This record gives sequence, C-alpha cells and structure tokens, in this order.
Amino acid sequence: MSPSHNPDPNPSHNPDPNPSPSPAPSPGADHAQDRWTEVDDYFGDLLAPADPALTATLRDSESSGLPPINVAPTQGKLLHLLARIQGAHRVLEIGTLGGYSTIWLARALPAEGGHLLTLEYSEEHAAVAAANLSRAGLDKITEIRTGPALDSLAALHAEAPAPFDLVFIDADKANNRNYLEWSLKLTRPGSLIIVDNVVRGGGVVDADSDDPAVRGTRAALELIASHPKLDGTAVQTVGLKGHDGFALARVLD
Ligand code: SAH
Ligand code: DHB
Ligand code: MG
Repeated sequence: MSPSHNPDPNPSHNPDPNPSPSPAPSPGADHAQDRWTEVDDYFGDLLAPADPALTATLRDSESSGLPPINVAPTQGKLLHLLARIQGAHRVLEIGTLGGYSTIWLARALPAEGGHLLTLEYSEEHAAVAAANLSRAGLDKITEIRTGPALDSLAALHAEAPAPFDLVFIDADKANNRNYLEWSLKLTRPGSLIIVDNVVRGGGVVDADSDDPAVRGTRAALELIASHPKLDGTAVQTVGLKGHDGFALARVLD
C-alpha cells in the first residue's frame, strides 16, 4: 500500500520527541567521499599494498603528466584475482595509460606462456607504460601496440591469434560496444570480459543521453544483456575514485 493510502495523522508516532527545526545534516557528497577514500585506503593498504614497481609507476605517470585515471589498488587487485581465477594465460587490455592496471594483470600470468597485449592510442602514454612495465620486470610477457584501438583490433584479428582468456576494456568509452564486439571475435567460450567505468556519474541510466560515453556504455551493457554468447552483470562501486562501477561478462558456448 502506498503511504498516501495510509496517512499517519498521529505525530506521537514520531520516534523523535524533540525534532530539530531544520533537517539533520545528511552526509554531503564531500563527507561521503572522505569516508569512501578512508575505507579504500584501509582495504588497499591491507590487501593490495603498493610495492616499489607500482609506486614508481604512479609516480612517473603523474610526473609525465598522465591523467590520474588508473584503477584504484583494490580494483587492480580484483583484476589480478580475476585473471588468476580464470587461469588466464593470454590477456588483452584496451587502454594502457601508464600501465598500472597492466602490471596487476600481467603479474597474474605464468612466466612460461603468459602474454598480455595492451592497446593505447597515445605514443606518450605508451612510452611511460613501457618504462613502467620494464621496471616491473614484465617486458618479456607484455606488448604495447599504439594507435586507435579499433585499428589495432582489426589488425590483431587479421593475425588470427590464439584466443584471449580475459579482456579488460578501459579506453574511450564511446567505443565500448565496438570493443566488446571485437572482444567476442578474439575470445573463446569461458573467456571473461571486463568493462571499466560503466556508471558515468550515474548518467548511465539516461536512455536519452547525448554523452557519447554514456551511449557507448549503454550499448555495451545492452549487448551483454542480449547477446546469446554473453552472460554478465554490472556492479557499481564507491571508493577513492568516487562512484563508479564495472561490468563483467562471460563468453558462453
Ligand atoms: N587501464 C588504465 C587506464 C586507462 S585510461 C589503468 O587503469 O591503469 C584510458 C586510456 O585509453 C588512456 O591512456 C587513453 O589515451 C586511451 N585511449 C583513449 N582513446 C583510445 C583509443 N581510441 N584507442 C586506444 N586507446 C585509447
Ligand atoms: C576516465 C577513464 C578511465 O578509464 C577511468 O578509469 C576513469 C576516468 C576518463 O576518461 O575520465
Ligand atoms: Mg578505467
């Protein structure tokens, strides 16, 4: 029954006998962000602690002027664990930046037969990432290809590579559906596809949005929902990166 059908005219039902004249301060956005950051710092320091290679990666990314849009430590650890759970040997990443998420993923791979290919538009970002991956001792199992990822994916597909066990989509969000479609061509039944940043500040709920990132992300989510070979979900998160989320899809037979 809706409240309008059952009005409560008796103010004595109010549990607060002395209501303040103005509403109690609700947690403001800044307050909530401080708390999310505090909890993320606690979880991260405990369960996804930085080491010299990760610290240097973020330091050199910042000093090289890269935007601080890498995944959070706890998210990097989640990617790492998902790659391990998946038993991944071959990982494809779309959107390298300075290689921070790349390091978490590549560290999940076996030294023998492990391979991570990461695609990056910017030569500058790729150069920073290459140095970071080399310092992390991962240059043997990682490869960076520069250029628009749609071009790199077409070229990659033409090489008929062995299927990737896990794909992490984290580049220009307008192309999320295109990246998902390429991922379907480059994976196998049982592969895992992860799409980062699917919340768009909540804008993802706006079916009429003209924001290309919202449109691309909604199109990717709708493909996960409708494609007979995909089964997935999306999870929103809060943390030191604010309010965000990721989608996860499994490739079916
Ligand atoms: N995965 C990284 C963050 C990636 S940020 C991490 O979590 O550490 C997104 C990256 O995608 C940026 O480096 C940006 O240059 C790159 N990018 C944007 N448009 C692209 C495109 N069309 N093709 C390939 N990379 C692109
Ligand atoms: C942006 C991109 C990302 O991959 C991310 O994790 C956060 C922000 C961006 O383009 O703003
Ligand atoms: Mg991202």
